[in-house]
Amino acid sequence: MSTYNENIRKVTTLHLREMKQTGEKISMLTAYDYSMAKIIDEAGMDVILVGDSAANVMAGYTTTLPMTIEQMIYHAQSVVRATKRAMVLADMPFGTCSGNPEKSLEYAICIMKETGVDGLKIEGGEEIIADIRKIVDAGIPVMGHLGLMPQSINKYGSYGIRAKGNEEAAKLLKDAQLLEEAGCIGVVLEKIPAQLAKEVTEKISVPTIGIGAGAHTDGQVLVMQDMLGINKDFAPKFLRRYADLHTVITEAVGNYIKDVKENTFPNEKESY
Ligand code: KIV
Repeated sequence: MSTYNENIRKVTTLHLREMKQTGEKISMLTAYDYSMAKIIDEAGMDVILVGDSAANVMAGYTTTLPMTIEQMIYHAQSVVRATKRAMVLADMPFGTCSGNPEKSLEYAICIMKETGVDGLKIEGGEEIIADIRKIVDAGIPVMGHLGLMPQSINKYGSYGIRAKGNEEAAKLLKDAQLLEEAGCIGVVLEKIPAQLAKEVTEKISVPTIGIGAGAHTDGQVLVMQDMLGINKDFAPKFLRRYADLHTVITEAVGNYIKDVKENTFPNEKESY
């Protein structure tokens, strides 16, 4: 059996809604460059997210805050060039959607025009709902992002689980409903209790995509470097590693170094 729906030539917002209705889970993974996006797309991923986690895994920053709009455009252009089937979403970087709807729309249009992505992901709820409405009303698909919002790390002070208490959980549910009303195509729920994610998933009509939010969301998202085991230092409970590329790459590079030092590479067949 195929792991994905081969009848879909290009995943659209309509497909995401249908998947929620039929119970087909939505697969989503991050990518930031052409080569990896091509592999991920050809494997049948439904959604590729050009996350601002690029600031961490591509650039080595400790937070996502330094990511600029120019850097996001560069990564998103590379991913779009590689992708045929998957829907491609780009994150709006920190500071580009923060309570000034006109300005936020300008940034959103800039990313859409420069990159050709299919939509945007935006962190935040009620506080930026006017910005999100403005962007959606301009015809741009928006995926919301609630729970742990890495762009707000300085406000939280930690990357711990969010919405464990009743008050924060109630706000999160209300925010999800506001995002649905504003016309969002879905909502990412990051690092929240599975029971709360289930409740949100049942109460809104648009898909929820979880990361560290249990099994009841309509789909799952992971950061590519984490699930492929490239990034050894990051091992939260929610992460499942599907490969150990750190070891594979280390061994391959070690063998290459050895062959060069011993002058066994290149051999005659590998020479002109
Ligand atoms: O930037 C990112 O990669 C994300 C995912 C973790 C959802 O926001």
